[in-house]
Amino acid sequence: GRHGDLAGKHVVITAGGTQEPIDPVRYVGNRSSGKMGYSLAREARDRGAHVILITGSATLPPPYGVELHRVETAIQMRDAVLRFITAADVLIMSAAVADFRPAQVAAQKIKKTGGQSGTQEKSEHGNDGGLTLHMVRNPDILQEVAEVVDKASQHQRLVRVGFAAETENLIAYAQQKLVQKHLDLLVANDVSRSDSGFGSDTNKVFIFHANGSMEDLPVMPKTDVAAAIFQRIVPLLGTT
Ligand code: PMT
Repeated sequence: GRHGDLAGKHVVITAGGTQEPIDPVRYVGNRSSGKMGYSLAREARDRGAHVILITGSATLPPPYGVELHRVETAIQMRDAVLRFITAADVLIMSAAVADFRPAQVAAQKIKKTGGQSGTQEKSEHGNDGGLTLHMVRNPDILQEVAEVVDKASQHQRLVRVGFAAETENLIAYAQQKLVQKHLDLLVANDVSRSDSGFGSDTNKVFIFHANGSMEDLPVMPKTDVAAAIFQRIVPLLGTT
């Protein structure tokens, strides 16, 4: 039965969105509620796993019986993931990680009066009171995991599952991400639908397998999506 089929296994799950600070009061973030990742954490716990939930912003109560680690930025999430995967059997990245962060974090709150701050806009249209943020790339966590895991021959087998949030060309982008990020499974949600993706209680996903096959799942509660994902992870455990 499903209960106990992850007994003795260590599962690391990321959830929520990262928040990249602009100044002490503002950030750039992603629209994730944490529902998908927290559902995965509860499902893994119910199947008997030791669960480490690395969470960015999410307003949900922490699941009972799960080891919770809070992070804010993509870099903090990367550091936590790299630390906890060394003892893990499964990694699921359901967090919405900001791909970019402000190049500089202002030490003081950026004021909206013109002139003083070097980041305030003085364009060819005159001082329009705007603000230009220079953004730099954040690390790609799954790509760094691939480098660490694929290099370390003594590393135990780590089943890797990614998500893809797409608004167009979902199938092509998802297949690309599965290959680029060396994943066993990739769960693609169509975030252009109101009953799927960010914030909703339901999700409409496609599951891509490393062998190239794809499954088209119906809209269902995120709790059921979580169960469907672990149903596909369990057979991958213990294989090399
Ligand atoms: O939290 P909810 O409101 O329930 O919404 C759930 C969700 C829509 C956020 C979730 O189902 C989801 O799709 N999460 C991944 C969103 C995302 O960031 O997708 P992506 O296509 O940008 O990234 C692809 C994969 O690479 C993801 O597994 C992501 O975690 C990972 N990634 C992304 C950027 C980065 N710098 N490092 C990464 O490892």
